[in-house]
Amino acid sequence: MALFKSSTRIIPDAPLVPRHIAMIMDGNGRWAKQRFLPRVAGHQRGVETVREMVKACRILGVEYLTLFAFSSENWRRPADEVSFLMQLFVKMLEREVGKLHEAKVRLKIVGDLSRFDEQLRRYIAEAEQLTADNDGLTLTIAANYGGRWDIMHAMQGLWKAHPEKAGDFSEEDLEPYLSMHYAPEPDLFIRTGGEQRISNFLLWQLAYTELYFTDILWPAFDQAALEVAIQSYQKRERRYGRTSEQLTGGKTDA
Ligand code: IPE
Ligand code: IPE
Ligand code: MG
Repeated sequence: MALFKSSTRIIPDAPLVPRHIAMIMDGNGRWAKQRFLPRVAGHQRGVETVREMVKACRILGVEYLTLFAFSSENWRRPADEVSFLMQLFVKMLEREVGKLHEAKVRLKIVGDLSRFDEQLRRYIAEAEQLTADNDGLTLTIAANYGGRWDIMHAMQGLWKAHPEKAGDFSEEDLEPYLSMHYAPEPDLFIRTGGEQRISNFLLWQLAYTELYFTDILWPAFDQAALEVAIQSYQKRERRYGRTSEQLTGGKTDA
């Protein structure tokens, strides 16, 4: 049984403060280039924004924050940038996990971890274990994540567990096998850096998420900018397929 309501089967609540925010942290390289710095300086500065977002979400009462840190397509980048990003990830885990734990943050890492080295996988497992029972913000880092990978991986897991049902699987059967089965679907998606695309992020889970795009580059994104995004979200009418009249109690044909 899935823990949360699926937007395509049941009409979920539309909370005033998004319960789950998913973010594509984009624009680090351009932020650095504008300052005549190497691209990796943008990644380094982007870590500050991650810290600020975690703090802001705790203050604002957001329950789940999901950050896209490395896509399955980011391996296509120059080898030295990929290796810098991996080292930064290890350093972040070493330095931040204790602080996150004190702040009662539950940390989750989703993605195809099989491509990471042994040491990184061990850090990930330890960090998840340490923070597993925390009841504050759930912070998910998507690393070597791809939306298509997630769906295929889930499908294979389901098929292996229930070969007898193959050919007759439902959405509900699949959901517990998706990597974010422990979280409700995102209410709000934010992409910084000006591009208006999903870049293979949470394809399944974004079915009815409100999308918000900003030109602000990730290292320059801050709590004030997050509040502007939430205000935009609060003005949206989340219809989930219904008519506007059905929501406002106005006249309907029914
Ligand atoms: C996002 O910033 C960080 C990662 C994808 C790891 P970019 O590195 O994509 O920055 P731009 O888009 O080149 O400015
Ligand atoms: C998306 O950013 C992935 C992450 C932020 C981790 P990219 O910069 O890799 O996306 P594209 O290539 O512009 O679509
Ligand atoms: Mg980019």
